[in-house]
Amino acid sequence: MKTHVWSVDKFVDNLESYPQITQAANFLKNNEVVAFPTETVYGLGGNAESSDAVAKIFAAKGRPSDNPLIIHIASTEQLAAFVSSIPQTAAVLMDNFWPGPLTIVLNKKEGKLSELATAGLSTVAVRMPDHPIALALIKQSGLPIAAPSANQSGKPSPTLARHVFEDLDGQIAGIVDGGPTGVGVESTVIDCTEAIPVILRPGGVTKEQIEAVIGEVAVDPALKNAEAAPKSPGMKYRHYAPNAPLYLVAGSHAFLQKLVNEQRATGAKVGVLTTEEAVRDYDADLVLPCGRRDQLETVAASLYGTLRAFNESRVDVIFSEIFPETGVGQAIMNRLSKAAANQVITEPVEG
Ligand code: TXA
Ligand code: MG
Repeated sequence: MKTHVWSVDKFVDNLESYPQITQAANFLKNNEVVAFPTETVYGLGGNAESSDAVAKIFAAKGRPSDNPLIIHIASTEQLAAFVSSIPQTAAVLMDNFWPGPLTIVLNKKEGKLSELATAGLSTVAVRMPDHPIALALIKQSGLPIAAPSANQSGKPSPTLARHVFEDLDGQIAGIVDGGPTGVGVESTVIDCTEAIPVILRPGGVTKEQIEAVIGEVAVDPALKNAEAAPKSPGMKYRHYAPNAPLYLVAGSHAFLQKLVNEQRATGAKVGVLTTEEAVRDYDADLVLPCGRRDQLETVAASLYGTLRAFNESRVDVIFSEIFPETGVGQAIMNRLSKAAANQVITEPVEG
């Protein structure tokens, strides 16, 4: 299959009537799958009402079929067709954070969506992305759009059209290239079918921001305990992994450098994931700064691109600094821990 690439400037007026958007929307209406930028990461979109279209998404990504997709909408009017009720907490969250990086799990109204899209669950995850191209494309298609991140299953999510191309060229009908995404990590997923909403995946909207508008929320225990079964099916898979083994290092820069030296002594090519502030503290084969530690948003924005860059230079092992789990740091550490398969090396305390 030839994969079309449409370059679109997200700042132009009247995006909806832009020929590239019309073309991409026509592919969606014909049940073909198209990648497009959102404010978090690139998504791989397809008609959520068509099992034919949704099957193409799962096939292109190599995604396990028990992992449901997020349904993307451009207006809250679209909800009535496939959501059975909107609890007060969900309504308040929509008011405050839509369009934006918050996915809300609601009870599903049967009959409209492809069963494949929701993996046969009685609930459905929905979000309204805050990106002019995503919104124009959804509006123009007139459909609810099922869209997982547009990466090969298991790989870091794409924050550039080039990443989508690397993973899915020849396997999807097209890619709308709208430049780099903003947030860089995926949306927060919150289940509002419970009396006290539960965060199933930390992401672009922080727990602190959510609690400021709806009060206390719970966090799925599986996010802290690798043994517990997660409520969000996708959270149980190894994810975001670079090709080389990745270790998170809890300790000083000198301790991390010592680990690097030990590995290099065995002939291994070693990568270090750090931030702008500390690049000069390390001597390794590839030292990559991932944003600035004093602005965690920049770390989130650079995270997946940095993980992909280690693959390009074929390092044998990667050591990464860790980050404080406040604000978007929760999402960063969630993704890094998964990429590292929870392998943490802690500096021994002297004495
Ligand atoms: O930022 C994002 O959310 C991106 C962009 C493209 O919108 N999308 C994304 O989709 O990250 P995906 O498929 O990579 O992750 C969706 C997550 C998975 O962990 C999945 O298990 C969970 O949402 N999910 C979907 N439907 C669910 C449901 N009904 N109940 C619980 N979790 C659900
Ligand atoms: Mg994903």
